Amino acid sequence: MDYHLKPGHALQGKISVPADKSISHRALMFAAIATGTSDISGLLESEDCLATASALQALGVSVERISAGQWRVVGKGPTALRTPTHALDLGNAGTAMRLLTGLLAGCNINAVLTGDASLCQRPMQRIITPLEKMGAHINATAKGYAPLHLHTHQGLQAIEYVLPVASAQLKSCLLLAGLNAKGTTTIHEPLATRDHSERLLSQMGAILQREEKIIHLTPSLLQATRITVPADISSAAFFMVGASIAPGSSILLHQVGANPTRTGIIDLLRQMGANITLHHHASYGDEPIADIMVKYAPLHGIDIFPADIPRVIDELPVLLIAAACATGPTRVFGAHELTTKESNRLVAIQKGLQALGIKARVENDNITVIPQTLQGGTIDSFGDHRIAMAFSMAALCAQDAITIRNCQPVATSFPAFAACAAKAGLAINEVLYP
Ligand code: S3P
Repeated sequence: MDYHLKPGHALQGKISVPADKSISHRALMFAAIATGTSDISGLLESEDCLATASALQALGVSVERISAGQWRVVGKGPTALRTPTHALDLGNAGTAMRLLTGLLAGCNINAVLTGDASLCQRPMQRIITPLEKMGAHINATAKGYAPLHLHTHQGLQAIEYVLPVASAQLKSCLLLAGLNAKGTTTIHEPLATRDHSERLLSQMGAILQREEKIIHLTPSLLQATRITVPADISSAAFFMVGASIAPGSSILLHQVGANPTRTGIIDLLRQMGANITLHHHASYGDEPIADIMVKYAPLHGIDIFPADIPRVIDELPVLLIAAACATGPTRVFGAHELTTKESNRLVAIQKGLQALGIKARVENDNITVIPQTLQGGTIDSFGDHRIAMAFSMAALCAQDAITIRNCQPVATSFPAFAACAAKAGLAINEVLYP
């Protein structure tokens, strides 16, 4: 599917973006190994999260959709999982693969985890190395890619581990394994990453202590709970940027997750001059939420440093669309992790911006964007949902029409993106391939 967008328009009104993908995966998985019935409200029903739900069903867990967004998981503890009869296909979902591998290693399950072409080229050695140190047996391809073959073992031993990369997926994988390991698992993060796992595990009764960037987890049995999933700030980010760059815009994003480990996009847009205010602060369980009001404001370029990156990792593509519409250059330093996502996002952003007449230069792990007049043009999403949605926002400030190729993967995180954008005033013509 291609997106065709006409240039111009402002974003207006009040919109609700879908539920948080990270929290939805965790809600399903943690409930699956807890004891008792967990009711989940507002679960994200995107391809990625449905892949997690199907995988858990294949592992013998009762995971039931009651109504739109309302799911019930009946957990019987970690020992109730059964060996699946087929390979677990996790589609495009890196979070599903990395977290499930830790969970299944902890539960000592024999299983094969696979996914689409993109997922089978993403780095898995980062989880295999520490899980094997704990005693797991995992085979991957020679390059450390999926399919992952998990074999049974003699029981896991807790480890103390310094994460070589700032990755919430790696951290969460090890926490899930640590729930059923012998001894206390200690994890040191180089930079703080999203802490949804820590918050939800604690809510479900895990014995977990946190100092700044160090986590200690004692083996624990989880108890079922009630979970309400907030709207995803990563999905809201597209509209935050759209409203910031399109003159005349004013939008309210309803009840969005505002966990401080995820709000880098707000901080960096404000640094660029954006007019963003938060209202009606509340929380769903231990997850803070707020309404986010964004009004158009002229932006200027900034420098983004390695320490900023984990808090804005998934929003950098759209932030660099804002940079293309700002005054003066924006430089991002130390963004290597962007090369390991659903596509090589450094390359995808550079090529997309260049196709629109913007100067964008990648050197090592750094990218510089030098704004020019934003032309129209044709862009390849490289099969990456966030690249497709980020470049949709560029149409708001473009001189001419934009075509974005290969947008089907938007359904992995934001199936109703085009409808939501239309509601805010950005018409996206979805053109299916014959
Ligand atoms: C996620 C963590 C991030 C992020 C991904 C979701 C999570 O990945 O990019 O979209 O749910 O834990 P890393 O932790 O590997 O950086």
